[in-house]
Amino acid sequence: MTVPVLSVRDLKVEFATRRATLRAIDGVSFDIAKGEVLGVVGESGAGKSVTGLAVIGLIDPPGRISGGEIHLSGMRIDHLPPEELRRVRGKRIGMIFQDPLTSLNPLYRIGDQIVETIRTHTNLSESAARKRAIDLLAEVGIPAPDKRVDGYPHEFSGGMRQRVVIALAICAEPELIIADEPTTALDVSVQAQIITLIKRLGRDHGTAVMLVTHDMGVIAETCDRVAVMYSGRIAEIGPVQDVVRNPLHPYAKGLMGAIPTLAGEDKRLVQIPGSMPRLSAIPPGCPFNPRCAFAFDRCRIERPEPTRQGAQAVACHLYDHAAKESAA
Ligand SMILES: Nc1ncnc2c1ncn2[C@@H]1O[C@H](COP(=O)(O)OP(=O)(O)OP(=O)(O)O)[C@@H](O)[C@H]1O
Ligand SMILES: [Mg+2]
Repeated sequence: MTVPVLSVRDLKVEFATRRATLRAIDGVSFDIAKGEVLGVVGESGAGKSVTGLAVIGLIDPPGRISGGEIHLSGMRIDHLPPEELRRVRGKRIGMIFQDPLTSLNPLYRIGDQIVETIRTHTNLSESAARKRAIDLLAEVGIPAPDKRVDGYPHEFSGGMRQRVVIALAICAEPELIIADEPTTALDVSVQAQIITLIKRLGRDHGTAVMLVTHDMGVIAETCDRVAVMYSGRIAEIGPVQDVVRNPLHPYAKGLMGAIPTLAGEDKRLVQIPGSMPRLSAIPPGCPFNPRCAFAFDRCRIERPEPTRQGAQAVACHLYDHAAKESAA
């Protein structure tokens, strides 16, 4: 078996507050293979961003990784000293955040920023790095890249800026790209272009991609697999066509009702009654049980662990029984 690019095992992340230690991520496990795009969905506060930040080692105190392991192409990275982790982050993991301006320095020409990043991670000369920067800008669809390379971030539109961020994220040829709602801040008309670009880059370069998005349409079109998060856990994970067409977890079923129809006439999210619990008040058993129409006694007591259902894995007692029987 080939080693996954990213392997996360039983990840736990805690934030210490004055009153209590809150567990934002509680036992999350998933893999992303070379060239694969994993979508991560779930309502606000589910732990999507914190999971991504943990992978790139950007959880700052009072937060910390309190358990589990993170491996990048077989190498454990959650333990690395900050200096080494910074190198891994720049070279082997690329990041794309919602706001392109968090990744770009407004005072520097974009070409200089890309050249600096290339030269930090490769032996290329200044002129070779500049040529590569121009090639990268062309690859991400910036028109007249040989001129635009000398522009400043404010001279670019939002969509073009995010393309520059993508060029910056891929310039050291990372194994993994983490994109956290990369199109949320952009006009609808450019969102699809950026998503198509990220998908193509994953395919062309064999990069593994973790794509956090609220947009189920994007998930359906872009991702190979999808993880549905709820209260810091993965409720369900599996191939995108299975999870979207045949969601198993009651929360995933509710969420998939949020996909716009093909005709596009119904873009409103289907509301699941109730709201996700605060971190300080996650109920025992299954965290979804107070909102779940199918909850029974066990769901209020015992935490469901993920069990395999075909190509999907689901953390729900409704399926646990059947899985055990078929395994026997
Ligand atoms: N620095 C922090 N200190 C305390 N709690 C935090 C901190 N950062 C995140 N959290 C908590 O961790 C939980 C997960 O947050 P996270 O940002 O990962 O959610 P998300 O799924 O990305 O949501 P959204 O869709 O709104 O971006 C939330 O309850 C959030 O309040
Ligand atoms: Mg987030």
